[in-house]
Amino acid sequence: MTEKTVTLNTPAGNFDYPVLDGSVGPEVIDIRKLYGQTGMFTYDPGFTSTGSCESKITYIDGEKGILLHRGYPIEQLAEKSSFMEVAYLLIHGELPTQQELDSWVRTITRHTMVHEQLATFYRGFRRDAHPMAIMCGVVGALSSFYHDSTDITDPDQRMIASHRLIAKMPTLVAMAYKYSLGQPFMFPQNSLTYTGNFLRMTFGVPAEPYEVNPIIERAMRRIFILHADHEQNASTSTVRLAGSSGANPFACVAAGIACLWGPAHGGANEAALNMLREIGTTKRIPEYIARAKDKNDPFRLMGFGHRVYKNFDPRAKVMKATADEVLKELNISDPVLDVAKELEHIALNDEYFIEKKLYPNVDFYSGVILNAIGFPTDMFTALFALARTVGWVAQWNEMISDPEQKIGRPRQLYVGAPQRDYVPVEKRTSAA
Ligand code: SDX
Repeated sequence: MTEKTVTLNTPAGNFDYPVLDGSVGPEVIDIRKLYGQTGMFTYDPGFTSTGSCESKITYIDGEKGILLHRGYPIEQLAEKSSFMEVAYLLIHGELPTQQELDSWVRTITRHTMVHEQLATFYRGFRRDAHPMAIMCGVVGALSSFYHDSTDITDPDQRMIASHRLIAKMPTLVAMAYKYSLGQPFMFPQNSLTYTGNFLRMTFGVPAEPYEVNPIIERAMRRIFILHADHEQNASTSTVRLAGSSGANPFACVAAGIACLWGPAHGGANEAALNMLREIGTTKRIPEYIARAKDKNDPFRLMGFGHRVYKNFDPRAKVMKATADEVLKELNISDPVLDVAKELEHIALNDEYFIEKKLYPNVDFYSGVILNAIGFPTDMFTALFALARTVGWVAQWNEMISDPEQKIGRPRQLYVGAPQRDYVPVEKRTSAA
């Protein structure tokens, strides 16, 4: 079959570049030879039209609001799967048999404890430290305890490190919450499910038994599944870029946590609930819609808009239904949910949001559920990081074993001063 190409006419000549097909989704233009042939770079701040890698893990169709993990729709996984099964699927590529799943859960469960000395890292933080500040520190610190799984050229060590990261994130996140309260850390209890274990480490105390509420466990499991992976988003790209230098997986995930913290990314769930609380009542929604539309006002509707989804974020739909379900089952009426629904309704009928294709994203409703479960707002992004660790680990493993991967090193359009000679200080006049 003849290779598909596009031709670029440049001052250095006309060059054909291969067009590559994926299994679904947009074709790509392979421009790897562009600079060598033309002496020109492409220019794409924010990588809006740039594919950074080949991947088989997650596919998103932003126009149709489709999200597939290894081909399975997120709606089906959220409804029918478990977080451990989704983690296996993301990493190994297929849904596990019962035997494979049991063995996978046993393996992950065996790694849930953390080195006792790691607990002393927490004591170096202020009690009111943001949990994401703690997570950046302690996840990076894991590499100082697990030297036997930092050789990234060894597939066995890569898998042990992957198991450790997935297994220990709930323990570390729960410890960050306990530390903020001044309560003792709870040890993992391996007879519980991954999600149940996390809830007990978070909300249980040594002084009394803790019963996992099945409603909350089901909601938490669904929230973890909805946050597991999302193609080449900013934090996943950070993990891949850090990994491309050969950094160990603990350091790479710590870099991903740092990136996720930003309010334009994973920090939006915390910012969205704070915004909904600030709005307070449906009466004040028009004021905030106006601010979101005002070019001179930096305010944005948090939990709204997405680089890829120009239609509904399918995760937001599941999250909205889960919010209704959980609040009803827990018999909680939260006025913030009413504000969120009315805000969504008004925004989706407003010309500005329609024209810019702005819809609620995964972060718009998640805070309502997390708040109902009892998490403080500043824990929300740490929960996102806990869940996204399975995606980061899957993407990192895929990158390391990709024969085409090399260190990531973008170029630039230089608009600074051309070469000039040094001026001794006595001869300088002020630049102003
Ligand atoms: C996540 O990439 C992923 O997959 C991320 C994620 C994942 O699972 O990993 O899905 C998780 O990060 C979800 C997004 C969470 N962030 C927020 O909710 C913060 C609020 N949203 C925005 O800041 C914004 O929508 C982004 C960052 C999400 C997307 O930004 P883009 O793609 O760079 O779009 P843009 O900033 O260029 O906006 C396009 C236009 C602009 O207007 P114009 O300059 O064209 O006139 O839409 C406007 C923006 O001003 N706009 C908004 C808006 N989001 C975009 N206006 C008001 N409120 C908003 N929320």
